[in-house]
Amino acid sequence: MGAILIGVFDSGIGGLSVLKALRAEMPHAHFIYVADSGYAPYGERDEAHVLERSRAITRYLLSQNVPAMVIACNTATAAAIHLLRAEHPGLALIGVEPALKPAVALSQTGRIGVVATRSTLASAKFQALLASQAGGASFVAQACDGLADAIERSAETGDTAETIALCARYTQAMGIFGTENGQIDTLVLGCTHYPFASDHLRAMVGGGVQIIDNGEAVARQTRRLVPASVMPANAPPGQVSLFTTGQPQTLQAAARRWLGLPDPVKTLLI
Ligand code: DGL
Repeated sequence: MGAILIGVFDSGIGGLSVLKALRAEMPHAHFIYVADSGYAPYGERDEAHVLERSRAITRYLLSQNVPAMVIACNTATAAAIHLLRAEHPGLALIGVEPALKPAVALSQTGRIGVVATRSTLASAKFQALLASQAGGASFVAQACDGLADAIERSAETGDTAETIALCARYTQAMGIFGTENGQIDTLVLGCTHYPFASDHLRAMVGGGVQIIDNGEAVARQTRRLVPASVMPANAPPGQVSLFTTGQPQTLQAAARRWLGLPDPVKTLLI
């Protein structure tokens, strides 16, 4: 039996944080990763743009015969997953959303910070999620304009000064982090780019604060939904094909830096 091929996409390199977890969970599955860098960032654009791009990428991935697709982007999940599900009932679709429920279970102070794109926080999907968890904790939600873009640039240049400055500005705006009463003791990373800034965020919020993202949970859910992704232990390792709608250098550098993937990035005109 040949290994399964799973599609994964994001506005850029952020979804690599999810791809990393997917590869750890399903080492024999093959993946096609699409970074929509030519049309990014998604987080400061309107929903119609994100929906149109999500549809174009879905059509491309379906043309590659993927039976399953992971939307490795909180912003695109919020804007498009419900419509894509209705339009492609035969496709197994897995999305990512800020991990509010696990945060409520973990928090001791009952005060939780959420960092995400402006568009994710404004979406009806996030507002409904927030309302469903509001009884369990109080939330401080912070839109981080420019942070995903800064992380993209740092992946290529290695210069993290802009990322660090933005992390400092946004965490300071949220209030006091810590484990005392009234302090924010849990920080939810609601954008798949942000795990690549987690060391900087950690330095700012302190060691006692729990920083959580959804990558591993999404990988487990994908494995559950796509049983064919589980192969015998002696099956050959899965391959990753990397595509971008923008300049290949950024994805190339990020895939090498963060996932150790040397494979060449191809440009996609869609
Ligand atoms: N990585 C994306 C997310 O999870 C968004 C980044 C962007 O603004 O394009 O929301």
